[in-house]
Amino acid sequence: MTSVNVFRPPVFIPETAIAERVDALARRISADHAGVDDLLLIGVLRGAFIFLGDLARRLTIPCSVDFMALSQYDRDATTAEGVRLVMDVRVEIRGRHVVLVEDIVDSGETLAFLVHTLEVRRPASLRTCVLARKRGPEGRLARLDYVGFDIPDRWVVGYGLDYDNKFRTLPYIGVVHGPDAL
Ligand code: IMP
Ligand code: MG
Repeated sequence: MTSVNVFRPPVFIPETAIAERVDALARRISADHAGVDDLLLIGVLRGAFIFLGDLARRLTIPCSVDFMALSQYDRDATTAEGVRLVMDVRVEIRGRHVVLVEDIVDSGETLAFLVHTLEVRRPASLRTCVLARKRGPEGRLARLDYVGFDIPDRWVVGYGLDYDNKFRTLPYIGVVHGPDAL
């Protein structure tokens, strides 16, 4: 057991602050979709799985859950490969009220791709909800309806977010030295 990685990234957003914010987002989403009988939440794997789980359980309206998965985010490969869908939702979204739930928006490229992919299927409505937004308005390519936290350009982990597929299960959002660390 001596080889276990014991590094604990410093806390950037504590668990209690996340819970309060997710509560507030859930209240807004519930209010904005009052009267919708089966809201479809679409989570983007893998980063959004914990955020989606907490958010879904706090909504006060009936909802269903589905997931999409994209090719791994790789800063060096983004321009060469772009964003690629590797797993699609299983349900028909035409005529449904949909909230797309994503972990983080940086350039906005990933979310713009997802929004386009879903919009052509003609949902009754499509809103986007992200746990964190990294850049200011100039970095945004996609419309954001619900934003948990505006954060600086640091590489954050925990609460679903990873660095090299590690740290996803931390209960808080922490900062590591990575591609975007200071
Ligand atoms: P964008 O396409 O530039 O907006 O990048 C967004 C995607 O990059 C997200 O879906 C995340 O998977 C990943 N990402 C960006 N920043 C971070 C971070 O700080 N921690 C973990 N994942 C990140
Ligand atoms: Mg992601």
